[in-house]
Amino acid sequence: MAYYFSEPSHTFSEYLLVPGYSSHECVPQNVSLKTPLAKFSRGEEPALTLNIPLVSAIMQSVSDDKMGVALATEGGLSFIYSSQSIESQAAMVSRVKSYKAGFVESDSNIRPDQTLQDVLDLKERTGHSTIAVTDDGTAHGTLLGIVTSRDYRVSRMTTDQPVSEFMTPFASLIYAQEGTTLKEANDIIWENKLNTLPVIDRDQHLLYLVFRKDYASHKENPEEMLDEKKRYMVGAGINTRDYATRVPALVEAGADVLCIDSSEGFTEWQKITIDFIREKYGDTVKVGAGNVVDKEGFLYLAKAGADFVKVGIGGGSICITREQKGIGRGQATALIEVAKARDEYFEATGIYVPICSDGGIVYDYHITLALAMGADFIMLGRYFARFDESPTNKLNINGNYVKEYWGEGSNRARNWQRYDLGGAAKLSFEEGVDSYVPYAGSLRDNVRVTLGKVKSTMCNCGAITIPQLQKNAKITLVSATSIVEGGAHDVIVKENSGMK
Ligand code: IMP
Repeated sequence: MAYYFSEPSHTFSEYLLVPGYSSHECVPQNVSLKTPLAKFSRGEEPALTLNIPLVSAIMQSVSDDKMGVALATEGGLSFIYSSQSIESQAAMVSRVKSYKAGFVESDSNIRPDQTLQDVLDLKERTGHSTIAVTDDGTAHGTLLGIVTSRDYRVSRMTTDQPVSEFMTPFASLIYAQEGTTLKEANDIIWENKLNTLPVIDRDQHLLYLVFRKDYASHKENPEEMLDEKKRYMVGAGINTRDYATRVPALVEAGADVLCIDSSEGFTEWQKITIDFIREKYGDTVKVGAGNVVDKEGFLYLAKAGADFVKVGIGGGSICITREQKGIGRGQATALIEVAKARDEYFEATGIYVPICSDGGIVYDYHITLALAMGADFIMLGRYFARFDESPTNKLNINGNYVKEYWGEGSNRARNWQRYDLGGAAKLSFEEGVDSYVPYAGSLRDNVRVTLGKVKSTMCNCGAITIPQLQKNAKITLVSATSIVEGGAHDVIVKENSGMK
């Protein structure tokens, strides 16, 4: 007879934290959000530690090299998506590893024969007002000039005017040569009161732009995730089909940690993939596995040697797996069961295998709840897709700015099969949708607000570390009526007032 779970499975929104005693030392400034990323033995330090418990989802619309840099700067980590060719994924990993803080590859470029209208369209699309003019309109073409909003006035010009007529031409630009250090670049910026300094090579090809604001911001990132060579750390997704070629390419490119990306991870394919990595690299290459939603799935992957285990099926915002296939489990219930299994496994073996709650975070407090329920870190897709740094364009739809966000199991992404069918089998149905999410601004601003809330709630629960929160938290299920009570009710809420 089939096995029946006696209790319904629950989601984060059905729970709240009940405050506990907090001492005078329990203030947000004293909270540490450090958390293990890879497994470790009792009494030892984790091989890899995150400075904040957030990682970005292994998705085309979320995690490229730009997201990787932005999130590592704040203390988290991106897993660069694997639904692309091995070469382009490895190139993204290398770009994060070779990223020099403050030196930005220009992403708004134009040719001199293009028009003011093209400038306006580009600015709308990228949100950047500094545009490099290059002979071929690429980021590394011959630099011919720069356009900023100071170079044109829409009311006094026609939109078909060519860029060459109003750009600040190369002859009038102050620039720096290849090899200039960030300190030198900033001295030039300050001495000449510049906003942007282009850096070029000997042949006048554009290499980078240095912006005035970046130097200041670089000094304000105490949580940066850096490796022993002071390079940003980055993860990468892999799959259970082409691992024999993809893994070596990603390791060569400098990936700090890998993760098998699969919607259903309780399979022998995952063990075969981990075995390959252990045989070739021993424990030097860290690899997470998943996704699972129960104790059995966790134990299988932990015993197979996974460095962390990812939890969650069907809870993602763009996910229609539950509707299409009828598999999944409420994210909170799955997490609570897997966290218990992780603790029991630690008790029995002395090996702590961190778990990652993947998908379904809607409100910032869901992050705190997931940590309290035992997650060591959280993977988010929708949350990061809304920011400037996600790989998709910002669009204006009826006066509202949005960014595109699509599932890895959607038609848009699935020419790269992520589902483990063990071969060339093609999926005939979608497991994800293509969507828009409201544009929310910069990653830095949003992550800082989110983590401010997490720290504040941790203090309410009497915890200044994540392990303390996991030990001390008091969590209650709430009734449908009390969920209504939790929002603004019985008042007429003014426009623009309330939760952001
Ligand atoms: P979100 O943070 O709620 O948007 O969920 C992101 C997570 O959804 C990812 O990390 C994946 O685990 C999962 N996911 C991504 N694409 C798909 C899909 O097309 N179908 C089902 N789940 C997906």
